[in-house]
Amino acid sequence: RDFIYVATGMMGVVGAAAAAWPFIDQMRPDAAVRAAGLPIEVDLSAIEPGGTIVVTWRSKPYFIRQLLDDEIAAADTLGEGDMKEYQPAAERIAGPDGAETRNWVIVSATCTHLGCVPNIVDNAPEGWFCPCHGSVFDMVGRILRGPAATNLPLPPYVFADESTLIVGSDQV
Ligand code: FES
Repeated sequence: RDFIYVATGMMGVVGAAAAAWPFIDQMRPDAAVRAAGLPIEVDLSAIEPGGTIVVTWRSKPYFIRQLLDDEIAAADTLGEGDMKEYQPAAERIAGPDGAETRNWVIVSATCTHLGCVPNIVDNAPEGWFCPCHGSVFDMVGRILRGPAATNLPLPPYVFADESTLIVGSDQV
């Protein structure tokens, strides 16, 4: 379940990739588009259930993960007493209009403590571990423990169709 950096371009993506993770630059945006931070289009078709990619929007990384059924079930077992900033898991899981299942999570990959990029933890309900100071987030980005006080933020996004996600806008 390696992360893959994906940069697709409805408008553009800035590609500051961590060296350890492969980066796929499907379209090189020009400098003006990168600077504008316009929405990006992401092809979801290559992400298998349980898979995660990292995209960059406005120079910041974002995780896009297709959750497994047991990961969604594990997230649903957590209650207010299990986390610092409660939000129902369902409010952080999305899917295309009309889809049978909603199993996508799109969250900031910037730790809300001091800004490190968390690593994935395949130990549901734990989903993300920040190596800098030990914050642990669940599979949908809710803060479970550690010095971070708030959940990983959700960017604006919208599904253009079953396999296309737009990050950076909530309108197609
Ligand atoms: Fe993530 Fe400190 S930056 S725990």
